[in-house]
Amino acid sequence: MDKKIVLLGPPGSGKGTQTERLCAELKLTKISTGDLLREAVRNNTPLGVKAKGYMDAGRLVPNELVVDLVKEKIKCVEGGVILDGFPRSLEQAELLDRFAKVDLAVDIEVNEDNLVRRLTLRRTCRSCNAVYHLEFNPPKVESICDKCGGELFQRSDDTERTVRERLKVYKEQTLPLTKYYSKKGILRKVDGEGDIGTVYQRVLKAIKG
Ligand code: AP5
Repeated sequence: MDKKIVLLGPPGSGKGTQTERLCAELKLTKISTGDLLREAVRNNTPLGVKAKGYMDAGRLVPNELVVDLVKEKIKCVEGGVILDGFPRSLEQAELLDRFAKVDLAVDIEVNEDNLVRRLTLRRTCRSCNAVYHLEFNPPKVESICDKCGGELFQRSDDTERTVRERLKVYKEQTLPLTKYYSKKGILRKVDGEGDIGTVYQRVLKAIKG
C-alpha cells in the first residue's frame, strides 16, 4: 500500500498500538513524532533538551522543532506512510500539505474516562517503543518487553495530571483537524472502544474502504 495516512485521535486512543499492527500487515512506514521526540530527549540532543519541558507539561512542542523532523523523514520514505501524532494543529496540517499529499485521515474515538485509564496504566519499552497496558495488554514477564526483552517504563507524561492537560490541549488544538480533513472528503471515523483486535479490524476496514 502506498497511501499517506494520518492517524488522529486523543492521547491514549490507541494510535501507537494500531500503527504497529498496520505497519506490519500493510508494509507501511511509521513516522511517530512522539517516538522521535522521546528518542531525542533520551539521547539528550539539542532538540530533546528543548522539547522535554513541553512534553512533561503535556503541551505541544513548537512547530519549528517538529515540522522539519517530519519533512526530513517523509522525504526518505518510499511507499506508504502512517503519520502517528502529526499533524497536531491546523497550522501543522497546512504545513504538511505543502510537502506531502495526505490520502486519508483516520480518527479513533474513545471516551475520556477510558483514555485516562489506558494512559495511567500504560507501560512502554525503552528499547523498541512497544506499548503495553498493565490490565488490557500486559507483558508476559513483568516489566520486560515481550518483543525485545527491553525494560518497560512509565512515560513521564502519563501521570493523571499531565494526561488531563494533554486531553485539554487535544480538544483545543487537535480536534479541529477532524473538520479540516472532513472538508477535504478524506476523513474516516473509527469507534476506538473495545479490545485492541476489534479496533484494529475497524481501522483496517476504514483504510481499505
Ligand atoms: P505522543 O507520543 O504522540 O502522545 P499522544 O498523542 O498523547 O498519544 P499517546 O502515545 O499517549 O497515545 P496513543 O493514542 O498512541 O495510544 P497507545 O496506542 O499508546 O506525544 C507525546 C508528546 O510529544 C505530546 O504531548 C507533545 O508534547 C509532543 N508531540 C508529539 N507530536 C507532536 C506534534 N506533532 N507537535 C507538537 N508536539 C508533539 O495506547 C494507550 C494505552 O492504551 C496503552 O497502554 C495500550 O496498550 C492501551 N490500549 C490501546 N488500545 C486499546 C484498546 N482498544 N483497549 C484497551 N487498551 C488499549
